[in-house]
Amino acid sequence: MGSPLARVRRPWLWIASVAVLAAALVVWLLAVPGESEEDAAYLDPSLPVADRVADLLGRMTIEEKVGQMTQAEVPAVQDSPGDVGDFGLGSLLSGGSEAFYDTPEAWAAMIDGYQREALDTRLGIPIIYGIDAVHGNAAVPGATIFPHNIGLGAAGDEELAGRTAAITAAETRAAGIPWTFAPCLCVARDSRWGRTYESFSEDPELVTAMADDVVHGYQGEDLSANTSVLATAKHYVGDGGTAYGSSTTDSYTLDQGVTELSEDELRRLHLAPFRAAVEAGVGSVMASFSSTDLGEGPLKVHADGYLLTTVLKGELGFEGFVVSDWAGVSQISDDYAEAVREAINAGIDMVMVPDQYEAFTATLLAEVDAGRVSENRIDDAVARILTQKFALGLFEHPFADTSLAAEVGSEEHRAVAREAAAASQVLLRNEGDLLPLSGDESVYVAGSGADSLGRQLGGWSGTWQGSVNAVDEGTTILDGIGEVAPDATVQYSQRASEPLDGYDVGIVVVAENPYAEGVGDVGPGNDHDMKLSDQDAEAVETVCGAMDCVVITVSGRPMELEGHLDGVDALVAAWLPGSEGEGVADPLFGLAPYTGTLPVSWPRTVDDEPVNVGDADYDPLFAYGFGLETAP
Ligand code: GLC
Repeated sequence: MGSPLARVRRPWLWIASVAVLAAALVVWLLAVPGESEEDAAYLDPSLPVADRVADLLGRMTIEEKVGQMTQAEVPAVQDSPGDVGDFGLGSLLSGGSEAFYDTPEAWAAMIDGYQREALDTRLGIPIIYGIDAVHGNAAVPGATIFPHNIGLGAAGDEELAGRTAAITAAETRAAGIPWTFAPCLCVARDSRWGRTYESFSEDPELVTAMADDVVHGYQGEDLSANTSVLATAKHYVGDGGTAYGSSTTDSYTLDQGVTELSEDELRRLHLAPFRAAVEAGVGSVMASFSSTDLGEGPLKVHADGYLLTTVLKGELGFEGFVVSDWAGVSQISDDYAEAVREAINAGIDMVMVPDQYEAFTATLLAEVDAGRVSENRIDDAVARILTQKFALGLFEHPFADTSLAAEVGSEEHRAVAREAAAASQVLLRNEGDLLPLSGDESVYVAGSGADSLGRQLGGWSGTWQGSVNAVDEGTTILDGIGEVAPDATVQYSQRASEPLDGYDVGIVVVAENPYAEGVGDVGPGNDHDMKLSDQDAEAVETVCGAMDCVVITVSGRPMELEGHLDGVDALVAAWLPGSEGEGVADPLFGLAPYTGTLPVSWPRTVDDEPVNVGDADYDPLFAYGFGLETAP
């Protein structure tokens, strides 16, 4: 099954096509004297975008239109880059584990290569390349990596969150990437969910409050600027509210499950952040893998015309484009034609296929031919996509502008990441005002999170799942202690196996190992359980049994601490603080105050989940919004 646009390369068909085209050209030149492609209105940046879109749409074949609605992963085209032009692909992406380019310039060169293929077509429509730059562009070694959203939620500072987004945007665009699949505006209602750390909070009001600053941070005032990227409000809608055990994906228990709420509850808890993102002008929205059940049985959001079109595009007035999640369309039905038809008719505008793009384009073309998907729907989807491409300036500047590449990972950017890490620290216990430390103590440091950049970064860092052996640069918490308290005497022993006598204070950094998506769901068959590892539990008991001690949790969500807090004088939730470990050390030694508060309720045990403020039997270990302060 050849590509729709490649058929003209077969000799006999080529000759016939040339003859037809020659005749058409004569008619056209007689009919429209004087206009060449170069003079086409869509190429005139002085015209309003709407006029450029209308002109270009009027010139496109149905094959070219369907191509624009197709997003492919880079590995699927790397052996056949010509497919980008042959199928007129609208977009490419690198999924979380698919790209290893050592510098922003190398990333840009890769993307520009595919861009040349796209431009070498009849209408020369540029591709838009997207990536998950969700807490910095962590796919680029040396990039500045910020706390994951749960830490920014703990900081509760929208302006600061906006600044982290703006720096992420600048470092992402400097690598030739004009689109990030962020922010996640999920409202995490059950911390056993592996994506809890991608959420700002369990509280829709806090998530909503973040939306405006973060979307503006990513998109800036001018999408075509070399410091702006197209943002993606995701995952629309209700991904953080699924019922435990409702997922049918792999070993997942929550991720991609069913959100069993009434429409009123769904709107109250999960829709509000998207309303704010639309009002902030977000250019794309990603549909959620999850389903809702508004009373008539589970329905995949990817196939839900009421939520995607009536509510998002109609009621909320969203004028950008809706992109599917990774092969999310295929989850709708085993009948692929039915899945494609239902997704597009429901309001999906671009499909993250991401590999079988030949089958997708052929299937959608057949559905259009059969009249089961209207050309009006296709035109609406393509117009939405083209509008963002024009706004990004991709027609005028299709190739990367790496002039700001030298600022990737700059000291100035890292200072903001350090500030965000410090502001995200939540002080949960401080017996005898042990904290802040003076900085001239003899300190015994232990725990799996003390000297582990990989655990500090969490998922979506270098690779999809993240890695204990980090692939990114940064400063560990132990390094940060050394920098912030140079007069302290520091002994580090991860397992607390070194002699314990003679120390003023112990600092035990317990941690989760990195994960992403449903792989991090708590449940049978998964490796992540929100509990301390035996090694960390033993280190807490050993160190805190021998001296005054501080326990710091490095995790994407609350950890089960019941039974581990005897003898613990101070307790700090550090979340996933990112590449600047000094940010964790700053409040520890009084260079910054503790001001953070819990963005999610901290349960007594994992089995108590879901635990959310407002529950009738609300009895957490630490309540939503709790956090002790220390003097600035
Ligand atoms: C993933 C995630 C989504 C991400 C996309 C591209 O499955 O659900 O958040 O943006 O695929 O990597």
